[in-house]
Amino acid sequence: MRGPYYETTIHRQIREKREDRKKRIRNDVERYGSEVLDSDEMKQAFEQTHHKLATVGEHTLRVTMTSVLICYALRKMKVSVSIPAVVVGALCHDLGMLGRNDKFNSLKESNAGHPKDSVEIAKGLVSELPEKTEDIIERHMWPLGDSKAPNSIEGAIVSAADKYTAVKDLIKGIEITEDTADMIAEENK
Ligand SMILES: [Fe+2]
Ligand SMILES: [Fe+2]
Repeated sequence: MRGPYYETTIHRQIREKREDRKKRIRNDVERYGSEVLDSDEMKQAFEQTHHKLATVGEHTLRVTMTSVLICYALRKMKVSVSIPAVVVGALCHDLGMLGRNDKFNSLKESNAGHPKDSVEIAKGLVSELPEKTEDIIERHMWPLGDSKAPNSIEGAIVSAADKYTAVKDLIKGIEITEDTADMIAEENK
């Protein structure tokens, strides 16, 4: 029979496992995304509101961390995925939203226009932007805007994580903002 001590041990193990996983995700995001994380564009991203309760930067980090988590799950199922492409694609996917109010006249326009702008910004931030990563960014809005459907597993991951995160931004924005505060503080040191 499971007593309180046994349950406490199980809960501790689950917590430690979650913490290890979070550390592993952060390491991968920093390893493959440092050029984007260190950019002025990423700093600006934390100053622009997105999905009402979040900033572009917070949304971006959430999409990136969720995408990497999906990669781990798929790898466990022996599906081959490129984590570097997912990290750079996810970190850059919405940078074209910066200055949104000055360059787009409507939500429809920004939905359709920002992915291409994100690609251009990404090209200026990373030394080499592979075609796969460019496609991840350019097609992430699917099925919204005029976006074509993702053409890779990595593109499907980022697009799905983006939709899932957009809902979380809207309903739990403030809570999640606090959750990501440590990571943001570390990046801005
Ligand atoms: Fe977007
Ligand atoms: Fe997004």
